[in-house]
Amino acid sequence: MSDPLRVGIAGLGTVGASVAQLLRQDAARLAQACGRDITIAAVCARDRGRDRGVDLGHARWYDDPAAMAASGDIDLVVELIGGEDGAARATVEAALGAGHHVVTANKALLAHHGVALARLAEKHAAGLYFEAAVAGGIPVIKALRESLAGNRISRVYGILNGTCNYILTRMEREGSDFSDVLADAQAKGYAEADPTFDIGGFDTAHKLAILTSLAFGTEIDLDSVYVEGITNIGPEDLAAADELGYRIKLLGVALVTETGIEQRVHPTMVAKRTPIAEIDGVTNAVAIDGHFVGEVMLVGPGAGGRATASAVVGDICDAARGIMVPPLRVPASELAPYQRAQMRAHEGGYYIRLSVYDRPGAFAAIAARMAEQGISLESIVQRAAHSPGSSEPKPVILITHETTEAQVREALDIIGADGHIERDPQMIRIEQA
Ligand code: HSE
Repeated sequence: MSDPLRVGIAGLGTVGASVAQLLRQDAARLAQACGRDITIAAVCARDRGRDRGVDLGHARWYDDPAAMAASGDIDLVVELIGGEDGAARATVEAALGAGHHVVTANKALLAHHGVALARLAEKHAAGLYFEAAVAGGIPVIKALRESLAGNRISRVYGILNGTCNYILTRMEREGSDFSDVLADAQAKGYAEADPTFDIGGFDTAHKLAILTSLAFGTEIDLDSVYVEGITNIGPEDLAAADELGYRIKLLGVALVTETGIEQRVHPTMVAKRTPIAEIDGVTNAVAIDGHFVGEVMLVGPGAGGRATASAVVGDICDAARGIMVPPLRVPASELAPYQRAQMRAHEGGYYIRLSVYDRPGAFAAIAARMAEQGISLESIVQRAAHSPGSSEPKPVILITHETTEAQVREALDIIGADGHIERDPQMIRIEQA
């Protein structure tokens, strides 16, 4: 057998503790599979005394994770500190600079600095592994980087945030408001105390930016991701979607167009019959369109200690076996500059919910304004009975054919100025999944 692979774990929260448990509990099996022992040689965490369900007595404790990462005690550092800069970045840079492998679950770090870190890893002949950074336990990084390498990828899309999918699933089932479900999810520990990163779509955007680079061989460009979260989705939208044969999911979508790459995160209507529409609760799913294979969909747990530790330990095993590929599939120097797509027709059209004053001629005027902007309507439906003598606003749902967001917004601005609608309209893209 070769020398043991000496691992240093930076960050012993839920994921770090799960990684340590798995490495210890399954040490013999992993050693056999990898052809060498994997030992936890060093750890770094704030609280030394906490019971983490695993004996770490033999490991050397460090207070400074970057010092541990650069030390001669380890061959590989597992970075589970989190955050795009600070200690996490210092630790990863120190490890790579010393020629040590890095396994990280840190999507923010990679979304912001992934290309620079890949360059650093390649320069020092170190491995940079990050299966756990996107969709937790789903092996999507390896799938894109290695298993689907024979394909030209045209689109990647998926449900990449369990918190949002859990909230939308419960709103749909219970007919509840967003804020009520969020509060309950926080009370039960399914949503963070500060949920902005999840519900605002930013977590999905970080993950999508990483997938985009792997799928299309371009530099990571987080700033080019259009981001819209789920905070404006109401139970009335979920009910209307249901009646129209759709479900609403927060999707991250990246695709190649004639003019460049489009990356977007937003609530999306997907037809009920499609596999992505069936993904409920905290589960994640990623679909990849390859020119030879067709569509591949991966489904599984996107978060949590065990799922994330599963991905981390898979990466550690790759390092132990000496499997090293360019972190972003192609060498960092070969990555194409990111080229942002120009505005184009959205292939699936739009769902629009308006609060329309119930007056004769309102529908006709709205339809006319849409037509003036070149927008073709598939349907226009009032979702509440007319009350004689009252011009109280009533919900009206429009489904458009393919059009651009700019055209829809222009038409809605004009309809608003005409005085037919109350409040801001709701707009949700329909995706051909
Ligand atoms: N907060 C994420 C989610 C998991 O809700 O899916 C970590 O990326």
